[in-house]
Amino acid sequence: MNEGLANRIAQRLAEIEANGLTRKLVAPRGNDLSSNDYLALAKDARLKAAMIRAIEREGVGSTGSRLLRGERDCFAEVEKQFAAWKNAERALYFGSGYQANVGVLQTFLDAEDVIFSDELNHASLIDGIRLAKARKIIFRHLDVDDLERRLTATACAGQKFVVTESLFSMDGDIADLKKYAAVCRRADAHLIVDEAHAVGIYGARGSGLIEAFGVESDVFLSINAAGKALGAAGAFVAGSSAAIEYVVQKCRSFIFSTAPVPALADALAMALQIVANEPLRRQRLWAVSRFLRQTLNENGIRVPMSTAPIVPILLGDSSRAVRVAKNLQAKGFDVRAIRPPTVPERTARLRVSLNVGLSEEVLSNFVAALKDDLTDECVAAL
Ligand SMILES: Cc1ncc(COP(=O)(O)O)c(C=O)c1O
Repeated sequence: MNEGLANRIAQRLAEIEANGLTRKLVAPRGNDLSSNDYLALAKDARLKAAMIRAIEREGVGSTGSRLLRGERDCFAEVEKQFAAWKNAERALYFGSGYQANVGVLQTFLDAEDVIFSDELNHASLIDGIRLAKARKIIFRHLDVDDLERRLTATACAGQKFVVTESLFSMDGDIADLKKYAAVCRRADAHLIVDEAHAVGIYGARGSGLIEAFGVESDVFLSINAAGKALGAAGAFVAGSSAAIEYVVQKCRSFIFSTAPVPALADALAMALQIVANEPLRRQRLWAVSRFLRQTLNENGIRVPMSTAPIVPILLGDSSRAVRVAKNLQAKGFDVRAIRPPTVPERTARLRVSLNVGLSEEVLSNFVAALKDDLTDECVAAL
């Protein structure tokens, strides 16, 4: 490395530090209030056993791209199972949600198209749009009227697409997909839904908010991360047979990447079975969420009542968010500070994410410790 590059890196690291934005790699410690293992499946004995059996059968690595020697019967089997559960014609398994979002958006967006994207959409959706040549229009967070105004006012020689998360990853709020479906129908736009944080948690089968809102036939594609409620890793893209076939043929992040560890498919097949057969798990999660939200509100830390397992506690200033998180970690609560650019400027927060293993006692103790740490003026209501 020459001096110029060394200086540039040193200067940028110093800027990050000065802005209170230095990230640290910290392994889990204490009560889990920050993982996305909502249904506590990551350590479930049945998933572990399924994965170990599959490793004995398949080995560890897939050894190639899905289009070459990396393909396995277990990928096809779990994709079939996922598609049936999701009520879609076909599904395709990717190595991660980021890889799926980046690749899929790039695949479908042509230069003459326009994509309408919620202002708080995840970085992977933003990056997928960046890789495409289509025009991008941002609409206000969860504002379906703003979306419809922009759809109506925009002339487009190609196709119009709308992309949103269903349960937002950093705010825990929910897009009313019934309204989005109606707006897209009126505007002849194609709806793409990122169900990363909703799959496994909502709907009678547990397949997500698309199911819960009953809009399966209005959704062009859904992307369903498998490293969160489903407890393993990867992501399923689900849609029509033709759309998924097109992804197989054209999606660069699918084609030019080694296939995932095959044993993940067996772990996920087990996860899908558990989620479908054990609705009490998600009901327990909703109860945990309601309990925490109610306890926070009773203690003057105002959050909206909801069943969503992501509870943001806004602190505004990045350094303050880090300090509060550190204090709580020292008291045994593994909660993490989320700062810009992951969230908008001046909205640094604790992102509390819940799982079915948390007791009411732990949550009550957490709120008491949090309250100790916060003064009234820095508690911003969401
Ligand atoms: C909304 C959303 N989409 C996509 C992703 C990416 O998924 P993965 O972690 O599997 O890459 C995440 C999580 O990081 C997410 O929160």
